Amino acid sequence: MRILGIETTCDETAASIVEGRAKEIKILSNIVASQIDLHKLTGGVVPEVAARAHLEKILGVLKLALSKAFSLSSFSPSKIFKKIDAIAVSYGPGLIGSLLIGVNVAKTLSLIFKKPLIGINHLEAHIYANFLGKKSNFPKFPLLALVVSGGHTFLVLMKDHGKYRSIGETLDDAAGEAFDKVAKILGLPYPGGPAISKCAENWQKKKTKAKFQIQELPRPMIDSPDFNFSFSGLKTAVLYSFKKFQLEDLTKKEFKDLQAQFSFEFQNAVVDVLTQKTIKAAKKYKVKSVCLAGGVAANKLLRETLSTQLKGLFEFYCPPKELCTDNGAIVAINGYFKALKKEFILWNKIKVDPNLRI
Ligand code: KG4
Ligand code: ZN
Repeated sequence: MRILGIETTCDETAASIVEGRAKEIKILSNIVASQIDLHKLTGGVVPEVAARAHLEKILGVLKLALSKAFSLSSFSPSKIFKKIDAIAVSYGPGLIGSLLIGVNVAKTLSLIFKKPLIGINHLEAHIYANFLGKKSNFPKFPLLALVVSGGHTFLVLMKDHGKYRSIGETLDDAAGEAFDKVAKILGLPYPGGPAISKCAENWQKKKTKAKFQIQELPRPMIDSPDFNFSFSGLKTAVLYSFKKFQLEDLTKKEFKDLQAQFSFEFQNAVVDVLTQKTIKAAKKYKVKSVCLAGGVAANKLLRETLSTQLKGLFEFYCPPKELCTDNGAIVAINGYFKALKKEFILWNKIKVDPNLRI
């Protein structure tokens, strides 16, 4: 079965074709047009700008995804859509203007080519990045997923496909949001996650002796009895601690070292909290596997720390880096599992939901 996945929830315009077979799931194409360069100019996503960019790019992205998947000499939509069994699209959560573009393209294609339509919860799709390749190697239920993206951070138990029970979430900022905001405080570019991670890694590699006395950053809620998170206080701690330095008196090199030292300390604090809570939840709920998901799952330190600390206790799954951040393949994979259960929706019934939950 071949599924076309369309993703436009935030700032990536994406389309992918995924093929589900009896024993494995394969990606035939996965095209992502990133808007990062556009949003770098404003240091974050401006919803109106994102929506316009989706509108400009979506048809080109779609055409590229279809041509790559089937390598046809001439592009004939009616012929190509004969090879597609269903169309999956993220209908929330996300920015309303962005969501509307993907959903309207998907429902138009569904109507014209008479293909079943599947509405996908973007957060669920992130978890499905872990269900790729040989089915015999898939995560086993019950599983625990740590979803860490730009807009969401939560721990969810999954008893079976489509059966979720959220056990904790952030009470304020999401982990990715904290990375983005702290990067802004430190004068690093958007998106903050990769920038902070790179800075911290360089700092560690250089093994430079700490030049500046930075007070230990807090690990909010690390010992709380629940599975909730909070990252806003950590962000404020960075803000106050960073502003204490006479930034204008520093040389360029000193300023870069200070940025790197803060990046290192901040990343350690976030990874400590996420890791500790995840392990505690996995033990409490006696799960069979632990899955990492969402944009922050691309973080090297988080992947390595969880993998090391879960070794021998639980099977740990982590998507390839390019499938952690937003893309169409995760939407199509999730769509495949829904198609197996015939969870389709009529083209005139699907509605975008910016606040959709899992
Ligand atoms: O899942 P995603 O692509 O979009 C949402 O659904 O929100 O996640 C984007 C988030 C951004 O906040 C970005 O800074 C963060 O993921 N991110 C990272 C890394 N790569 C992306 N955070 C930490 N380390 C990274 N390497
Ligand atoms: Zn996402």
